[in-house]
Amino acid sequence: MSNVNYEQDGNIAVLTINRPKALNALNSEVLSDINQAIDDIDLDTVRALILTGAGEKAFVAGADIGEMSELTKQEATEFSKLGNDVFRKIEQLDIPVIAAVNGFALGGGNELAMSCDIRLASDNAVFGQPETGLGITPGFGGTQRLMRLIPVGKAKEMIYAGNNIKADEAKDLGLVNEVYTVEELLPNAKKLAERIANNAPIAVRMSKHAMNTGIDEVMDEAIVTEENDFGNCFESEDQVEGMKAFLEKRKHEPFKNK
Ligand code: CAA
Repeated sequence: MSNVNYEQDGNIAVLTINRPKALNALNSEVLSDINQAIDDIDLDTVRALILTGAGEKAFVAGADIGEMSELTKQEATEFSKLGNDVFRKIEQLDIPVIAAVNGFALGGGNELAMSCDIRLASDNAVFGQPETGLGITPGFGGTQRLMRLIPVGKAKEMIYAGNNIKADEAKDLGLVNEVYTVEELLPNAKKLAERIANNAPIAVRMSKHAMNTGIDEVMDEAIVTEENDFGNCFESEDQVEGMKAFLEKRKHEPFKNK
């Protein structure tokens, strides 16, 4: 797979989008490679995934404008669906996904970052949805996820005016959790991934499910979702050990994902 690199180190994996000559722009081939890499993750052992971009300039500079320039209406709808399906798969993956945004995250790049659970950025990162300046709308979830993550008026301003924001403003808006120097970004993403990986995987998975499902439900349904996900953790070996260790005032054994 030439457009992505995948590396697993213990319980942590890093998926790097690797098309630096085009600032990691997403054409159909890159999207298919990401899709395949996600399908190939060994979810029995990997407990957190980091997504980043190759090179020093960009996370992802958007969907591939060259490829899109030739599309018919029908083909464009299909291209949007291709991206949306891959990004939804990332959003719904059974493990947390951290975007380590190491430069431009424009259009499809910002949309990819937004499909991740958590965004960390380098201080040179730039976020934006410049699509209206190209004569199109965002097409990989940007019209929906941006306004769910930052204030609606700010999301509309970013999309209608196409103005980019820098890492610090993205942090102020809550689009990213933390900003690091370029050198410190990946090590800090890995530290966070490790903290997640040390917790009980079933509990993390159920928490992700409860939050991702509940956010689109009314409260009376959402709390039932939580009740079920809470119940799903019980009778697991990790729940028994986690609580027993607390009561015995000792550190729990490494969690087993069982
Ligand atoms: N698609 C295709 N190629 C791209 C690209 C994109 N989105 N972004 C960058 N590239 C290519 C450039 O064409 C250039 O290729 P060549 O060397 O062959 O000319 C190479 O990457 C390097 O880019 P630049 O020379 O432009 O680098 P720069 O430092 O001068 O500028 C940039 C960087 C500001 C990110 C600029 O490249 C840029 O504006 N890119 C486009 C950003 C954009 O509009 N993204 C949204 C795309 S639409 C979308 O994503 C729709 C959707 O929601 C589905």
